[in-house]
Amino acid sequence: MAQPEGAGGDLAARVSTLRAQVRLLFDQNRQRGAAAWSDARFDFVAPSSAHYPFQWLWDSCFHAVILAHLDPPRARSEIRTLLVNQHADGRISHMTLWERDQYEHALTHMALQFTRSPYLSDISQTPVLAQALERLHELAPDQGFLDETLPQVVRFYRWWKDVRDPDNDDLVAIIQPDESGMDASPRYDRLMGLPADASDEDLFFRMGQLLGMLTDLRWDPARLWSEPPFLDEDVLVNAAFADGCASLERLCQAAGLNAGADWAGKQARATARALVAKCWDDEACCFWDLAGRGEEPQRVLTVAALVPITCEGVPAEVVRRVVAVHLSPGSPMWPRFPVPSVSPGEPSFRPGAGPLWRGPSWMATNWLLWRGLRRHGYGELARLLAARSLTMVETGGLREYWDPFEGTGYGAEGFTWGALVLDMLADEVAPA
Ligand code: GLC
Repeated sequence: MAQPEGAGGDLAARVSTLRAQVRLLFDQNRQRGAAAWSDARFDFVAPSSAHYPFQWLWDSCFHAVILAHLDPPRARSEIRTLLVNQHADGRISHMTLWERDQYEHALTHMALQFTRSPYLSDISQTPVLAQALERLHELAPDQGFLDETLPQVVRFYRWWKDVRDPDNDDLVAIIQPDESGMDASPRYDRLMGLPADASDEDLFFRMGQLLGMLTDLRWDPARLWSEPPFLDEDVLVNAAFADGCASLERLCQAAGLNAGADWAGKQARATARALVAKCWDDEACCFWDLAGRGEEPQRVLTVAALVPITCEGVPAEVVRRVVAVHLSPGSPMWPRFPVPSVSPGEPSFRPGAGPLWRGPSWMATNWLLWRGLRRHGYGELARLLAARSLTMVETGGLREYWDPFEGTGYGAEGFTWGALVLDMLADEVAPA
């Protein structure tokens, strides 16, 4: 019988080679110390020492998943470092500039996102924190750590619901594109007033304008809702939110936090239901973001439109159709190195270097889709996605994103997310 792709004797050796590279990279990108501006000590991994020397929220969650396989105490430090600056209302900033003075040069246009604190950014980022905590707890259970961190993680998810769902439809909204982590995704072009061939300059200019407007509104939730310069019920963020709430329900049950478990379970189901009821397009077989207070569907086929299959609460028939139309080998969203951030059929599609998230394949979204495929019984396809992801990293190196046809790596060098492949292949190979 033919071996499935990526299986066979050499897979263990290939994964072990990647593990060694990742260990090295995670040591090189490690940032430790005590910040002059805070009492706290920090110990986290920068996504790329050269390009991104700061702490980012969803990056740190991915790092915790990866470190759960390599060095669980460091995974715990990564999460603690993230939680230490949680705001009073439950929000966690998308960026923390632990050593701003040292790395000011790397901030560039991102400096505009720090109007309320020089060290903690004004926005948040896609909530995959509960998923990371759950993965860590599965791989290296530590009840004390769970008891210590879980209440803060619950508050973070409650912040999304309490502050970012003003129309109370169980779909949370982002107020700025960077908040999803998919900065220049063309599904935001209409809201941002950008052309399909937007350049970095166009983008920075519009982003500067948007941040100016948000600052003028003083980040006041009521005004962000009544006169929103940017408001998007983003399907990737909502999928992560629902999936995270499902993780939270299980973790709270394990920790005996009954009220938290009850809230999180209900919220996970409500948001998954809302994604299907309001964002699902039966003809296109995918989910669209809803923009503005009028909830106008943003019909641009990006990987985000498929990510809701990661939710437990999305019905089997919906998942079957997403897989059949978009995630089967040979379909436009499944080129040689799946899954491109934008469909090659879109006018905005660009496979190589350029503004972020406009064509190349990224590992964060592959990881989310891989979780969804496994959860809904598509084990073979999940294995194939993991195997292709490994080949992509081997072809293009540990870079920020990859050409979906050639596998060439682009963007930041020495970038960490490629290491998520270790999680995706963990069940295929015995731990080293
Ligand atoms: C880019 C990515 C974003 C990520 C950040 C740090 O802005 O688009 O998702 O969090 O870099 O890696």
